[in-house]
Amino acid sequence: MCGIVGVVGNRNATDILMQGLEKLEYRGYDSAGIFVANGVNNGRLIKSVGRIADLRSKLGIDVAGSTGIGHTRWATHGPASKENAHPHTSATGRFILVHNGVIENYLAIKEEFLANHEFNGQTDTEIAVHLIGQLVEDGLSVLEAFKKSLHLIEGSYAFALVDSENPDVIYVAKNKSPLLIGVGEGYNMVCSDAMAMIRETSEFMEIHDKELVIVTKDSVSVQDYAGNSLERESYTAELDLSDIGKGTYPYYMLKEIDEQPSVMRKLISAYSDNGQVKVDEAIIKAVQEADRLYIIAAGTSYHAGFAAKNMLEALTNTPVELGIASEWGYNQPLLSQKPLFIFISQSGETADSRQVLVRANEMGIPSLTVTNVPGSTLSREANYTMLLHAGPEIAVASTKAYTAQIATLAFLAKAVGDADGNEKAKAFDLVHELSLVAQSIEATLSEKDSIAEKVEGLLAKTRTAFYIGRGNDYYVAMEASLKLKEISYIQCEGFAAGELKHGTISLIEDGVPVLALISSDEAVAAHTRGNIQEVAARGANVLVIAEEGLARETDDIKVVPVHPYLSAISMVVPTQLVAYYATLQRGLDVDKPRNLAKSVTVE
Ligand code: M6R
Repeated sequence: MCGIVGVVGNRNATDILMQGLEKLEYRGYDSAGIFVANGVNNGRLIKSVGRIADLRSKLGIDVAGSTGIGHTRWATHGPASKENAHPHTSATGRFILVHNGVIENYLAIKEEFLANHEFNGQTDTEIAVHLIGQLVEDGLSVLEAFKKSLHLIEGSYAFALVDSENPDVIYVAKNKSPLLIGVGEGYNMVCSDAMAMIRETSEFMEIHDKELVIVTKDSVSVQDYAGNSLERESYTAELDLSDIGKGTYPYYMLKEIDEQPSVMRKLISAYSDNGQVKVDEAIIKAVQEADRLYIIAAGTSYHAGFAAKNMLEALTNTPVELGIASEWGYNQPLLSQKPLFIFISQSGETADSRQVLVRANEMGIPSLTVTNVPGSTLSREANYTMLLHAGPEIAVASTKAYTAQIATLAFLAKAVGDADGNEKAKAFDLVHELSLVAQSIEATLSEKDSIAEKVEGLLAKTRTAFYIGRGNDYYVAMEASLKLKEISYIQCEGFAAGELKHGTISLIEDGVPVLALISSDEAVAAHTRGNIQEVAARGANVLVIAEEGLARETDDIKVVPVHPYLSAISMVVPTQLVAYYATLQRGLDVDKPRNLAKSVTVE
């Protein structure tokens, strides 16, 4: 979703902004722009709809200076257009603002303070920068005007503001939307995430909600909205530039699919010692004290929660309930006496999940975040964190984070089960089983060409498809169908195999692709086989992905079996490849599907 980058100091701002915006591309956007301050002409503002490459093609040599702000916009208020692209300017053009988030009361502000103003576009951001400009016209200093605006504005925001009459400062503030300061020698930066700044610095400073930061080339001063100075230490991020490159891969998604065996091995070394599972005692205790675990997440992370549910229940002896984060903000069910909320989020920034966490904190409900990003908002604001150790995931379609989420929850379940003396936990040698999972994934990855070939006949032209499965395979079917639809635009449903006949089977006609997943035991597999017969009899074009042992000779993709608690990890990998190849064959950009953002920072 929207991305912000800004720099002030002794560097070539244009280069830094453009490289930063390129690094933010993965978050998803539909237009982009930069403002570079320049003493001679007050600065240059360039915006364009479409890719960063389009913006780059519009830059002339006059776009030069050492202070600037840039933005990638994911449209919320108003369509993707040059007028709505950021940065936005105040009425006189003096103030330039970029914003990530949603200002809820922007119409009320417009009515009350800006009745005579004309606007170029439809965004809430334009109202904010006009407000700041108007307050300065009314006699306030820039800082006072910014502060007063922050008091008036309701909603989520990360702001970076430049005054073209004094471009040695970037004014920054945030509430709910992510924003970081990057600390350099003779320059400082501001950015939505560390990845866009890692080329320039690995030293970062967090900003908390409702804090205002004054950034100059030599100083970063943090204050609350009442003007009280706040001490803030910087920290060094352990990000490697090579982690965020594509290497020789054509797409990040393929690279990330391929990284899964090594992620499994990294998790083994992060969460075990000499074969013994090790998880923070305080986290184990928090689970032991809970009478019910509530997993709250969105999209793929929500599906990972399902894939881990049975294992968590079996090993911790505690019921597990799943919640869609965007629903729980408004529609929270009756909770048990001693709930523990578990947030699963690759990015750790998902606004839907965060709103639930904010409420949980208000209610005093303990929480654990399972995330890939240390220091992310959900990690900071929950009581406990378990990291995924998957390395940066750049492709919009989440792959290695999903498998890492299930594996991380397996360590949690096993650690609690061991502490409780649970017999099933005792019999489950997770470290060994996960190393077998890594091997099973490697075996599937070696079949890429044959998977690509099978997909070509099945999905290259279709408009619709179904994934079906039972038990854990049903949960994998949900994730597999999300993966396929989000990048290939094939309308796909993940269905409990036995449920089709209760209505949806009426959609099966000649040639409709049905991809069936079979990893459960013999009896369950036999039922799924029955459901395959039902759709085949109605003309479906069936592709079967089955675990060896349960597979028939005619099945299309065979997966090396793993422990049933972990089968979602090995079974999902062929479906990730199915989505990848179907998308390639349809001539689409695998990494940047339309309308989607990697980090969903608005509710
Ligand atoms: O960062 P999160 O895991 O909280 O993100 C949640 C979803 O937006 C995300 O999983 C989304 O569904 C993926 N793009 C799917 O591939």
